[in-house]
Amino acid sequence: MKIAIVTGGSNGIGKATALELGKRGISVILTYNSYKDRAEAVVKEVEQNTGVRAVALKLNLTQISTFEGFALEVKQYLNDIWDRTTFDYLVNNGGIGGPMMFNEMTEEYFDNILNTNFKGPVFLTQHLVRFMDDHGAIVNTTSSSKNQSFPGYSAYGSLKAAFSTWTRYIAKELAPRNIRVNAVSPGPTHSNFGDGVFDKHPEFIKPLAEQSVFGRIGQPEDLAKVIVNVLSDDFGWVTAQDIEVSGGHLL
Ligand SMILES: NC(=O)c1ccc[n+]([C@@H]2O[C@H](COP(=O)([O-])OP(=O)(O)OC[C@H]3O[C@@H](n4cnc5c(N)ncnc54)[C@H](OP(=O)(O)O)[C@@H]3O)[C@@H](O)[C@H]2O)c1
Repeated sequence: MKIAIVTGGSNGIGKATALELGKRGISVILTYNSYKDRAEAVVKEVEQNTGVRAVALKLNLTQISTFEGFALEVKQYLNDIWDRTTFDYLVNNGGIGGPMMFNEMTEEYFDNILNTNFKGPVFLTQHLVRFMDDHGAIVNTTSSSKNQSFPGYSAYGSLKAAFSTWTRYIAKELAPRNIRVNAVSPGPTHSNFGDGVFDKHPEFIKPLAEQSVFGRIGQPEDLAKVIVNVLSDDFGWVTAQDIEVSGGHLL
């Protein structure tokens, strides 16, 4: 029985990933930051639809001093529920977005993106990988914006680029343990991103859909299938890659 940890599993891509893992018989520890109720609903859905066990834990990626306690909590659940001391897969998915033009950018905005989308996942991985099974796998959720230049996304895109580069470095350092580290870069995806921007402003969808060769934006399930496949042994000879999953956005 394999076990995966998915950060940001209460919404969007992380939620779809938790469900996809469950469908493939993989147990899930998912995390939430603000929405405990949504995370618990995901746990229920995973368990009812797939039969695997799932657990939701609180994790704020900006609070690095809590990671040691989080790791202990995970270890306790691994022992109590699965009689294990290790886990198999980590999906560093939790993150935030939202634009701010460079001229107006505040240090607070920059630090929030930095801590949530890059620094937090880096140090969380450091804590968790210590008890990841050798032959495990990590997928980091980066973004197609790392190769683009949409106004307002300079911090977000640059820090996703940093996360993508970090993926390559860590893939090398963890290779002696046969742990693979890859990234998946979503294009525009209809999740709860930006506090539900696509639900609040459906008019934002059409112009982005027109930038894709398939004429639509992504759905969380489009990403989840790729993330779970990249974790699987079918990708056993793939490491240090960042795969864009955008339906040919801006091709
Ligand atoms: N959607 C897109 O168009 C798009 C495009 C490119 C890349 N991405 C990337 O895909 C990943 C998933 O985003 P999504 O689209 O699925 O967005 P989403 O629906 O908003 O989900 C984001 C998840 O991250 C969690 N999160 C937010 N702040 C956090 C924090 N400080 N600490 C821990 N967890 C936190 C949220 O938890 P709570 O809801 O419980 O607060 C939620 O579960 C992100 O890394 C994002 O940058 C998304």
